[in-house]
Amino acid sequence: MIPKDTIDKIIDAARVEEVVSDFITLKKRGANFLGLCPFHGEKTPSFTVSPAKGIYKCFGCGKAGTSVNFIMESQQLNYPEALKWLAKKYGIEIVEREISPEERAAQTEKESLYIVMQYAQRYFSDNMNNSDMGKSIGLGYFIERGFRPDIIEKFQLGYSSEDKYALSREAVKNSYKPEYLVKTGLSILSNQHVEGTPITEKDIFDRYQNRVMFPIHDTAGRVIGFGGRILGSDKKMAKYINSPQTDIYDKSKVLYGLWFAKKAIQEKDNVFLVEGYTDVISMHQSGIENVVASSGTSLTIEQIKAIHRFTSNITVLYDGDSAGEKASVRAIDLLLEEGMNVKVLMFPDNDDPDSFSKKVTAEQFQEYIANNRQDFLAYKTRALFNETKNDPIRKATVIKDIVQSISLIPDAIIRSVYIKECASIMEMAENILQQEVNKLRRAKGIKGEHRQEVQSTEVIPEFNEEEKQESLIISESEEKELLRLILHYGNVIISVEAENEQDEAQDFDLTIAEYVLFELMRDEISFLNPIHQMILDEYTHQLQGGTLPEFNYFKNHLNPAISTFAIDMASSTSELSSKWLSFGVIVEKEIYNLKKSVNHTLYSLKEKRLGQMLKERQDLLKTAPHEEHEAILREILHLSKVKINVNKLLGRIVVK
Ligand code: CTP
Ligand code: MN
Repeated sequence: MIPKDTIDKIIDAARVEEVVSDFITLKKRGANFLGLCPFHGEKTPSFTVSPAKGIYKCFGCGKAGTSVNFIMESQQLNYPEALKWLAKKYGIEIVEREISPEERAAQTEKESLYIVMQYAQRYFSDNMNNSDMGKSIGLGYFIERGFRPDIIEKFQLGYSSEDKYALSREAVKNSYKPEYLVKTGLSILSNQHVEGTPITEKDIFDRYQNRVMFPIHDTAGRVIGFGGRILGSDKKMAKYINSPQTDIYDKSKVLYGLWFAKKAIQEKDNVFLVEGYTDVISMHQSGIENVVASSGTSLTIEQIKAIHRFTSNITVLYDGDSAGEKASVRAIDLLLEEGMNVKVLMFPDNDDPDSFSKKVTAEQFQEYIANNRQDFLAYKTRALFNETKNDPIRKATVIKDIVQSISLIPDAIIRSVYIKECASIMEMAENILQQEVNKLRRAKGIKGEHRQEVQSTEVIPEFNEEEKQESLIISESEEKELLRLILHYGNVIISVEAENEQDEAQDFDLTIAEYVLFELMRDEISFLNPIHQMILDEYTHQLQGGTLPEFNYFKNHLNPAISTFAIDMASSTSELSSKWLSFGVIVEKEIYNLKKSVNHTLYSLKEKRLGQMLKERQDLLKTAPHEEHEAILREILHLSKVKINVNKLLGRIVVK
């Protein structure tokens, strides 16, 4: 049992934004942070973290809670386990009071499995560093491969003895249950064991013998599996023996190296995907830490989702041989389908990242990567196209192949940029490619096309002068109206419908204040009128401190500009409301229509802002150097798509 004051200490230390950002990338949005929800696999962020309130909330799936809840949910732990997890992170010592035998028995089995794995990791490392055989064979192997001691330690590498019973015997001697040794996959049950009877020391032997050991960690840093490599290159023996699928190790979800890479992936906003354990480790040694390996198995959707929480940019490092390249084709299609931006990098000759890194200095290695990675689709188009230039039939096959890859990309704007680029490389008409892509998408029955899709032919809008003027009108009246609404009705609860990832509509109850602030924050809208913005800032600040600010607060404000503004607004509305009071019905109607008013005001504000932003980009296009055109065009495409949607929404709201 954890004493109460220790619990308080842990909860104090575990700042929600810190804890959450161990698992997903958070971007600052006003006073809050925003990221991709780890609980429901979304592609646009709706997961908000409020440091002031110490909570997170996902506006997509509704999950909400404190840092402890977050760990419980994400790590599938119970309350005391989550507290212990956090205590470890913050170096808080837990002096537990003596637990009873019943309590010990009640410890979850999973927790026991983690403990056994931790024991085994320490055992293998200790064996490598301190036994004679370990030092000469295990450590010797790594040193000979050029692994530095600090890297060997960081990755917690180890060595399993030749003795078939070494680990099993030692573990049982230290009171680890044989049953758990089998359940973690560390030991194997022999045929001798009679089913139904308890498993004893005599029934088990070690899975790993005379191998160097690579522990596999989960994203919380716990050891959940091992890969054991033979020391030589005996063709008859499996090069690696890996842990089986267990209750704590789901192979389809785990990527080797992610625990060591998380921070660097967030910082670089990119991840390198390699094939093996040694590639990951060698890259760390060369100073590149944002790297993970799929470890022999083909990449799964769950693994991609695990990386996508941290970044949308991936660089796939091919082995130099063509087998490496072929194996990656399916993985790349999956990555595109999950909305990742894919770059590729080839190594010369038959090198893989590990062998190449040993031939060059760390600087040269990093330089090679920086200079040689290419956008996947452009690379593929160029490579295939050069091969087939004079063969019309093969050319047709190649085009189909490329179009197929493009059709997987979920984002219409990015698709159209690729279509443009590939069309130009292949000297083909863009609209033919576009039609092919559309056909493939329809055939696959990809949903959500009709509502959102903007065809490439209509995506570059030309504004006439009048529209340009209109988009420049500053949105003062909307700003003022939003302030009026939150000051009057901030605590009124409305039910807001939002779509979750499965395109299902879901209702969320929010106060008007929360809703308006969230919408503004999400789209990074600030008020242009500085007094409006000051009021909004103060309002947000107060609300996060737990009080709902009222008119009076702003009317008595020390800043005369703010108080004048508030008094003006109050007097003009009180005039109105006295009129309403004599017609009770109208007041009711304002409340009844509140959601519509709020939405109407929000959307027309957004629409005006988008118009302005589009105008700015279009002006920029005239003066910017050619290399920047693609990026600007992408933005224009994106903004106009959003604007069209906002317009549609606006059209649907009829305010009476
Ligand atoms: N792998 C495996 N079982 C095998 C061979 C490979 O599980 N019999 C997995 C391992 O995760 C390995 C990855 O596939 O790391 C890549 O295989 P390979 O390139 O053959 O191994 P490397 O890790 O590069 O090992 P080394 O550099 O020592 O040859
Ligand atoms: Mn290799």
